[in-house]
Amino acid sequence: MKANGVRLLVAGGAGFIGSNFIRYILAAHDDWQVVNVDKLTYAGNLANLEDVEGDERYRFVRADICDANAVGEIVAEGEPDAIVNFAAETHVDRSIDDPGLFLRTNILGTQVLMDAARKNGVARFLQISTDEVYGSLGSWGKFSEDSPLRPNSPYAASKTAADMLLRAYFKTYGLPAIVTRCSNNYGPYQFPEKIIPFFVTLMKENQPVPVYGDGGNVRDWIHVDDHSRAVEAVLLGGRPGEVYNVGGGNERTNIEITKLLLAAMGKPESLVRFVPDRPGHDRRYAIDDTKIRTKLGVAPQVPFEEGIRETVRWYLENEPWWRAVKSGEYLSFYDRWYRQKGRS
Ligand code: NAD
Ligand code: TYD
Repeated sequence: MKANGVRLLVAGGAGFIGSNFIRYILAAHDDWQVVNVDKLTYAGNLANLEDVEGDERYRFVRADICDANAVGEIVAEGEPDAIVNFAAETHVDRSIDDPGLFLRTNILGTQVLMDAARKNGVARFLQISTDEVYGSLGSWGKFSEDSPLRPNSPYAASKTAADMLLRAYFKTYGLPAIVTRCSNNYGPYQFPEKIIPFFVTLMKENQPVPVYGDGGNVRDWIHVDDHSRAVEAVLLGGRPGEVYNVGGGNERTNIEITKLLLAAMGKPESLVRFVPDRPGHDRRYAIDDTKIRTKLGVAPQVPFEEGIRETVRWYLENEPWWRAVKSGEYLSFYDRWYRQKGRS
């Protein structure tokens, strides 16, 4: 795809990864323009983008990606060169609690965006998927782009369905669509229901942290800026119809992560509570990122321990940000998922 004067439509840009990606793109490309289309669900927050609000290359439009009329108008009017779709319901526990919205936004919403791209001849459609579509690994091996898709949570199943639709739109209509499948992200502006910001904000208040099961589940962690660099590279150099895995090369058990956070915050290990497990909890994720490394020359740059220290510092320095998002709709989910289910 062309690299100059790109008009980008970012869906879901008010969330964690989308907002970091928009900030990254505007800093990296003087002549790019970004339209951010976001419904502003509980996870969408314009405060995440306060620093770019005044930038004339950036515009926000509030819309639901499932609304075909609204999306059709935005795409026809904006004539984007590319659409990058971050918009999704993203929290696995919420998908177990109530799957319906996940199917609507993550599947139907993606289809609506793809239809608008198709009708308006958009040159690239990049779907931000997840390694969770591959299911769970045992103690060895890694997910490659050819690994079978075996999603285990309603969230993962909805993301898998969208990936399959993307494939179908590429094969059937020739939509120039590409999929990235990234591992667990960490960094600033992550909604404090995901383990790292959730635990940091609990530890700050000397509250116990609920570790599911035996704490031995493994995730591969990547800094959100490394994810942004990978998405940029796939957008510019990726081949339509292909899938690219993105990983951090940092496999850690949840109890290791918890202890790292306790140490970074100077808090005692007595804050750890082992609580009943998440149903269907995937044991281990690990990414083989040979393809993106060799074909596009992309590799993660942020050293894990340093990234975690900086991330912890960011949450400690931005307490009003997380207090505001934790005070709203989040409280009823917290009560249902943790208190009523004996997980706290
Ligand atoms: P997030 O929950 O922080 O943000 C999601 C954003 O999408 C929010 O701004 C929300 O308002 C918006 N949104 C939700 N439903 C919408 C709708 N119907 N219409 C328009 N906007 C809507 O999520 P995130 O962690 O930033 O994840 C972004 C994407 O990356 C998702 O597609 C997710 O599946 C994928 N992903 C996330 C991770 C991770 O570790 N967080 C890892 C791999 C892939
Ligand atoms: P999460 O941040 O929800 O991301 P994902 O489920 O998409 O990987 O969870 C990361 C890991 O942390 C996962 O193995 C579940 C675990 N976890 C806990 O042990 N306790 C918690 O309260 C949460 C939210 C997650």
